[in-house]
Amino acid sequence: MEKIRVYGGQRVNGSVQISGAKNSALPLLTASILSEEGLTLRNVPPLSDVSTMLSLLETLGVECSVSSNKDYSETVICKTDSINNFTAPYAIVKKMRASILVLGPLLARYGHCSVSLPGGCAIGVRPIDLHLKGLKAMGAQVDLRDGYVYAEAKSGLKGAEFEFPISTVTGTENLLMAAVMADGETVLKNAAREPEIVDLANCLIKMGAKIEGQGTSEIRVVGVPRLHRAEHSVLVDRIEAGTYAIAAAITKGQVDLIGGDFRKLLPTFIEKMEECSLIFEDIPNGLRAKYAGEIRPIDFRTAPFPDFPTDLQAQTMALLCLASGRSVIDETVWENRFMHVAELARMGANISVSGSQATVHGVDHLVGAPVMATDLRASFSLVLAGLAAEGDTVVDRVYHLDRGYCFAEKKLADCGVRVDRIK
Ligand code: EPZ
Repeated sequence: MEKIRVYGGQRVNGSVQISGAKNSALPLLTASILSEEGLTLRNVPPLSDVSTMLSLLETLGVECSVSSNKDYSETVICKTDSINNFTAPYAIVKKMRASILVLGPLLARYGHCSVSLPGGCAIGVRPIDLHLKGLKAMGAQVDLRDGYVYAEAKSGLKGAEFEFPISTVTGTENLLMAAVMADGETVLKNAAREPEIVDLANCLIKMGAKIEGQGTSEIRVVGVPRLHRAEHSVLVDRIEAGTYAIAAAITKGQVDLIGGDFRKLLPTFIEKMEECSLIFEDIPNGLRAKYAGEIRPIDFRTAPFPDFPTDLQAQTMALLCLASGRSVIDETVWENRFMHVAELARMGANISVSGSQATVHGVDHLVGAPVMATDLRASFSLVLAGLAAEGDTVVDRVYHLDRGYCFAEKKLADCGVRVDRIK
């Protein structure tokens, strides 16, 4: 299992090209299934989760040709006129929950499919009950047998009005894709408002879908008979950008985040970082994050967009370990997303957890130690802590990190800090 050695006492100073968003690329890849004419995606991040999704599409019969570009991105051309398998197998789905996103497109285009239940993962049970409830509201027959979802819509999906009891990102994405060729109008209420959903809707509109309200909590879709080919560039990764901004804060340095309008994509995170330890300045096609001279304690709660992203919680906690006081973090999205606490404690952090709340008492310094990544975002929070710690930190199980961060060593070197991958 590969590890990353992080040398302590470093300072970030440089610029980072932010890649396409994992959480946009994954649903966009499944959207290719909706059209027999295929889909071309640019600015795809070369991540292990993307490779997993490509292998899933290949098992369905989609032909994906991938070409690498010099700017850390890939271009993927999906040829979808010979799909001949409608089962997403457990072997792939268990590696990546987002595989469940083939459910809506396969039902929309073919009227039947079987998808392995994703199972939980480190951060929680991660049910898909709302995905299934919404598809049933659109006329699908859904049965759960031997760990699989068997879904069928013999006479096609029907437009419906469906209200999500809670905001779900992939739930909204699955139903949005199911609705684009349904018979009649679909209204999704309390829909998720994440920028990645807007990106998916914009791509579907290029493919001929009729969608309004994306980015608000009410999305309206009028079904069309078929979708056609399109080209689309994956939205920049706001979570990667936020992660490197914290790298600048925790090492008392500065970083230019290149690749998008991050003030629009991270409104609450930026507001909280300005309270805590960063000054932001607009630069061409990006944003500069500069250490503001101290790390002040802050309280925040994670919640659906536009509130504080749960995917930046672990990274922010690493920073608050060095704040000049007590911070309280309320993780309202995932029931078990504090596994990085025990690892940070090994480095000298002083954190107590009670239910969904973590209380972080700032300490004077962290000490490098061997630690273990437990999930995708926690892995980078340990790297960030290691950059600021005294001495070296070795992060084990970095396959977690590779799921969501491409070229991490190279990008960290681009902003002046060194880490080494240990085979
Ligand atoms: C997406 O997961 C992201 N993944 C996650 O990012 C992210 O943490 C999450 O949204 C929240 O922003 C992708 O987009 C591929 P949800 P998703 O459905 O869609 C409950 C990362 O690090 N729920 O919005 O699976 C659920 O238990 C990953 O990049 C139901 O109860 O999350 C959770 O408490 C981690 N029933 C809440 O809703 C359902 O049917 C939000 O989950 C669906 C969800």
